[in-house]
Amino acid sequence: MDVMPDTKRTSRSRSRGARRADPSDSPRRSPASSAPHRPAAPGTPPGRAEGPPGRTGSPAAPVGSELSTFASVRRLYPYVRPAMPRMVGGLFSALGASLAALAIPRVLQALVEGPLAAGAAAHDLGALVVPVLLVLVLGVAEAGFVLLRRNLVMYPGTRVEAELRMALFRHLQDLPVAFHDRWPGGQLLSRIMGDLGLLRRWLVFGLLQLVVSIVTIVVGVGILLATAGWLGLVYLAGAIPVTVIAFRFSRRYRVIARLSQDQSGDLATTVEESVHGIRVLKAFGRGRDALDSFTDQAEELRRTEIRKAGNQATVTTSLQLIPEVTLAVCLVLGTVLAAQGQITVGSLVAFFLTTAVINGPVVDLGMTLSMTLNARTAVDRFFEVMETSNPLADPADPVDVPEARGHVQLRDVTFRYEDAPRPVLEHVDLELPVGTTTALVGLTGSGKSTLAMVVPRIFDVTGGEMLLDGVDVRRMRRHDVRRAVAVAFEDPTLFSASVRDNVLLGVPEAGPDAVPEEERERRLHEALEVAQAGFVADLPHGVETRIGEEGLSLSGGQRQRLALARAIAARPAVLVLDDPLSALDVATEEAVTTRLRDVLAGTTSLVIAHRPSTVALADRVAVLQDGRITAVGTHRDLLATDAHYRHVISSLEQDWEECAEHADHEASEQAQTEEVQR
Ligand SMILES: Nc1ncnc2c1ncn2[C@@H]1O[C@H](COP(=O)(O)OP(=O)(O)OP(=O)(O)O)[C@@H](O)[C@H]1O
Ligand SMILES: [Mg+2]
Repeated sequence: MDVMPDTKRTSRSRSRGARRADPSDSPRRSPASSAPHRPAAPGTPPGRAEGPPGRTGSPAAPVGSELSTFASVRRLYPYVRPAMPRMVGGLFSALGASLAALAIPRVLQALVEGPLAAGAAAHDLGALVVPVLLVLVLGVAEAGFVLLRRNLVMYPGTRVEAELRMALFRHLQDLPVAFHDRWPGGQLLSRIMGDLGLLRRWLVFGLLQLVVSIVTIVVGVGILLATAGWLGLVYLAGAIPVTVIAFRFSRRYRVIARLSQDQSGDLATTVEESVHGIRVLKAFGRGRDALDSFTDQAEELRRTEIRKAGNQATVTTSLQLIPEVTLAVCLVLGTVLAAQGQITVGSLVAFFLTTAVINGPVVDLGMTLSMTLNARTAVDRFFEVMETSNPLADPADPVDVPEARGHVQLRDVTFRYEDAPRPVLEHVDLELPVGTTTALVGLTGSGKSTLAMVVPRIFDVTGGEMLLDGVDVRRMRRHDVRRAVAVAFEDPTLFSASVRDNVLLGVPEAGPDAVPEEERERRLHEALEVAQAGFVADLPHGVETRIGEEGLSLSGGQRQRLALARAIAARPAVLVLDDPLSALDVATEEAVTTRLRDVLAGTTSLVIAHRPSTVALADRVAVLQDGRITAVGTHRDLLATDAHYRHVISSLEQDWEECAEHADHEASEQAQTEEVQR
């Protein structure tokens, strides 16, 4: 099904029922500032870098920072293994090209010392044919090897990139909501797109280049030593400053590379938030501020990139200068030695031609090193996410609950968001008997939505137990729990897909639980009918209409009805509806309530109610006060006996009346305007 993941969207649908601060009040600008509360992750191993890096991108103890570059990059091996034969083939081709290049000076030496020294060129051109042909063959072989290398590594490079991308996405889908709550989207986006592209380029070019450069330098220096002993040693002396410079550069550059990649992530987050929040920004005329803030961040990134380029330029210049200076010294020394007859002219020619072959890789070392360090940062950032363990993983020995009956029991449940000062739910005892509907009522912020997310195990309880048919959900497979419990969230999130795909999201069309096509069709239409989503028929292509990114082409009430239809279509044993009717007008609400009553009969349901009419759907009502269930009973009984319930209901009624009045007022104003226009 063609749907995009959408785990963390800002609320845009709290029309009249807006009860929580608008997200624009405290935009999530950075990892550091965006995670005031972290859902508790009891299973998180200590010391593991669970959180994203800091806003400034300083390498704040990311996973892998303590590893050497080799050890860090080696973690990619399982992903690269299938591509190894071609990669190794590519490496040998690159080495072949390099060795061919290194062999040419030796042939030229033989030419100079043999036929040329004997003056053959003047009389016997035939003596030149073999060496000249050999140079030609070596030149063609070098070009052939380069071509072969490109062909061999291109395919595995893209393959490995795709595998890494899929693995990361799979893991992101698996990670709990708590993880997505604290990782800004841009940081994940920059890892999955930018970092992995960078890794591919390194795998197909940088890695081979690095190995080939090192081999070329080592073999080349060996040849120099063999060709002209002392001169070779002088040239080798240049390796000392080269090593020092490369080492210092690596340490500095690693920090800047990390900073730059983290800042790219921050920038991507800003773009993502501005695009998602474009309506709020426009409505409040904050476009200029958004631009200013983006400009600051872009400028920050630019400065880092300049630092990066500056460092690279410095190292490249140094690496260029050292061989040149060594070469000048060798030239003077070589001429003296040749004049004294301690070295042949042929050896001298071969020596300098070989240094010309080595100098290329030495100068390129700056570039290959920086590519390698960028790749290492990308690997670290990749594994920071991949090595984040999922505390909500399936148990090793799960209890089978293939067909849940839908008996829900929260036993002494406590839940605290990670980093939150105190629990949101405390010692909650609540039973939802099979086939009954329970309304959950409480003041805003009392923990209703949190409780609704504990039931399908979106969050794990931090104390007590959440039992489904008498089995702790932590002992069940997540798949079984999710199949048994469907939720319509407070924020009706839709995907850029057709209405059909959105509504049938919880009705599998393939796999062991696949539902036959006719049944899927029946459920689709029934769910749309119950949710009073008749507007779908008027969409340009009916249920096949793509509803645009996050369903933004629909009104808040329309989105809410599709989200409700989605939960109904899943036909779960337990249905959790978080304020499912808040965005509907009175007439539609009544129509939905009437039809919903039939669906709820026989299904265990927990309905979070912000309106008296929603409360009326329930067989009984549970009152949540400051994270505790303080009373359970029928609406009538609670009205008679529970002061807090009366207070909540009267405030809901007041709220609702005000909304209704406001709506009526708007409607009459609209009518007047239309009248005047007529
Ligand atoms: N992801 C989160 N991280 C940290 N704290 C949270 C998170 N979500 C909610 N909270 C806090 O938990 C408390 C309960 O929130 P919850 O959304 O469950 O309330 P609610 O009863 O559903 O409120 P409303 O009626 O406004 O929907 C609030 O104080 C809220 O600030
Ligand atoms: Mg809520």
